[in-house]
Parts: sequence; C-alpha cells; structure tokens
Amino acid sequence: MSAPVRAAERTEPNPQTPGVALVRVDIAREARVLVIDDHQANIEALKRIMRSAGFVSVNSTTDPVAGVVLVQTWNPDVVLLDLHMPGLDGFGVLDAIRPQLVDGGYLPVLMLTADSSDETKRRALAGGVKDFLTKPFDANEVVLRVENLLETRSLYTTVRRQNELLEQRVAERTRELEEAQVEILQRLAAAAEFRDDDTGEHTQRVGHLSALLAIEIGLSAAQTELIRRAATLHDVGKIGIPDSILLKPGRLTNRERTVMRKHALIGAAMLAGGRSELVQTAERIARSHHERWDGKGYPDKNSGECIPIAARIVAVADFFDALSHRRPYRPAWSVDRTVAKIVKERGYHFDPKVVDALVALQREGIE
Ligand SMILES: [Fe+2]
Repeated sequence: MSAPVRAAERTEPNPQTPGVALVRVDIAREARVLVIDDHQANIEALKRIMRSAGFVSVNSTTDPVAGVVLVQTWNPDVVLLDLHMPGLDGFGVLDAIRPQLVDGGYLPVLMLTADSSDETKRRALAGGVKDFLTKPFDANEVVLRVENLLETRSLYTTVRRQNELLEQRVAERTRELEEAQVEILQRLAAAAEFRDDDTGEHTQRVGHLSALLAIEIGLSAAQTELIRRAATLHDVGKIGIPDSILLKPGRLTNRERTVMRKHALIGAAMLAGGRSELVQTAERIARSHHERWDGKGYPDKNSGECIPIAARIVAVADFFDALSHRRPYRPAWSVDRTVAKIVKERGYHFDPKVVDALVALQREGIE
C-alpha cells in the first residue's frame, strides 16, 4: 500500500480580491469516504481500492438506515451509495440525507449500480447524485471519480469560505461608514447649537426623549434609533440665522420671527437629497418639527398625520426640553407644569398619541 498523502492547506495572495487570502486545499487523502452497500464483498472491494490509493479514512455499512445516521454523524466528504438495497434503497437514502446535499456543504454522492438505464440515471441525478460507478468496479475509475468529486467539494468549500470572509468585510466597512456618518451628523448638530448653547446638551436631550416617546408609542427599535440620532439635527438650520436674531435676549419682532422661522427650511435644505435613511429622517424632522397637529404651524401648515411621525415626536420633545430648562429670560418650569402645558395642547399643537406617550412616561417617572 502506498503511503497516505496528508492534505495540505495553504494560503496565497488573492489577485482578484487583495486582502482576502486564497485558501487552497489539496485533495485530501484523509478525506472521509463512506460506502453504503448491502453486499459486504462490494464494500471490501471498494475499501481495498481506496486504501491502495492512499485514502486512510474509509467507513462502511451494509445497512442503509445506519448509513443515513453515519452521513449525519460521521460527516463524510464523499458517499459511495449502492442503488439496490433491501428496505431503504439508494433513492430512499438520498431522500433521507437531502439536508446534507442541499444545505451548507456540498456532499458528493457517487451511485454504485449495475443498472445504468437512462431513467435510473435521470432519477438519481435529480435526487442529488453527482456521478456513477458501474459494477464491476474498475480501480482507476473509482479513484479518479472520487478524486474529481473531492476536488469539486474542496473548491466549493474554498469559494464559500471566501464569500463568508467578503461578507464579513462588507458588513464591517458598512458599519464603519455608518458610524462615520452618525459622527459627522452629530458634529454638524453640535456646530449649529454651539452658537446659542455651548454645551450642546439640548439636542442630545431632545434625541433621548424622542427615542423614549418613540418606544412608548410602539415604533420599532430600528425606527427609534433613527429618530434618536436624527432628532439631534432638528435645529441644524439655525446655522443660517443671523446672530442678531438668534442671540437676541428680548422678544423678537414680527420680521425677526419670520427670519427665525426660516431655520426649518434651511435645515431641510441642508439635509436634502440624503441617500441614507438617517439623513432622510433628519430632513423630515428639521423641516416639520414646528408643524402643529391642527395645521397652524410652519413652514408647510401640514396637519395631523400628514406631518411625519418623527417630526410630531420631536415637536413634543423639543417643547418639553425648552420649557423644563432654564433660559436667560426665564427660569426652568417644573416637569409637572411642563407636562400640564403640553396636555392642554393635546390635539391642537401636538399629536394626541405623542402627548399620551409623554404622560405615560411621566407616570413611569422617566424624564
Ligand atoms: Fe426648531
């Protein structure tokens, strides 16, 4: 008997996809070969042939049911399967091991048959057989066909592993890009707010409360996260408002108020055309967070559910945060007084559903 050849796995640079190593697996002489045949003489003949060719791991059974169990538990790399067997025949075995043939790995099955009619071959191929060996066996043919199938299996495994690596890389890069985008947007929000609140805390608090409200009204975790992040940009358009108006300590004149109100459209214009859901949500919030449920808001005078839900939520969170924190011209309102004021505006300024969510949060003691 010739000495068994150990399989070697080596990696090489991949010219097609730099950075993803090309994994080559030589035909494995220690590949697991399973023979299922009810005739012990056939098994002995095939074992002899395979061992002479250097295959060291050859298992066998004359019982087709035990063969199915071995496929599932011993994890062969190739199966040599007899067609005509009492009880469960070759087709029955193929049906039973279908998950191993179609899912996950590529398990090649060679059918051993003396009956090579076209109908038998068609049915066997349809059942997942990859090749045929006709009895009586020719040693060279047996080894060549097994090696061919093992090589195909090896290439299949290699390609699958590379695909997994590439998918992992793509997922990592996508996450990095998303994180970079979120960071840039947060810095943009901070830049806008820096002019009238150098702590930047207002936008963060509005994002936080908006997320709590979104959860309370039953939005999905993904929507909630989008709103949490996008809400911080609600006043990004203030970057385009002159200091003389933005920082004016007293009441604004009508003309100044008109200019101030432009921050909604300026913010929407800054965020317009974004391709990500995050930027699109931020645009909707920036544009519509001063709309009112009764249609008396600005800039579009939209009402009810025509106002995007994210903007209806941020409207409540923004109003709550502004009143419940100190301003240069007035002290902070208590939470109870602020909520009471918002409840009064239920169905007028604010979406009743969002107001109810705020009341529920207050009852739960969350601010
Ligand atoms: Fe605003």
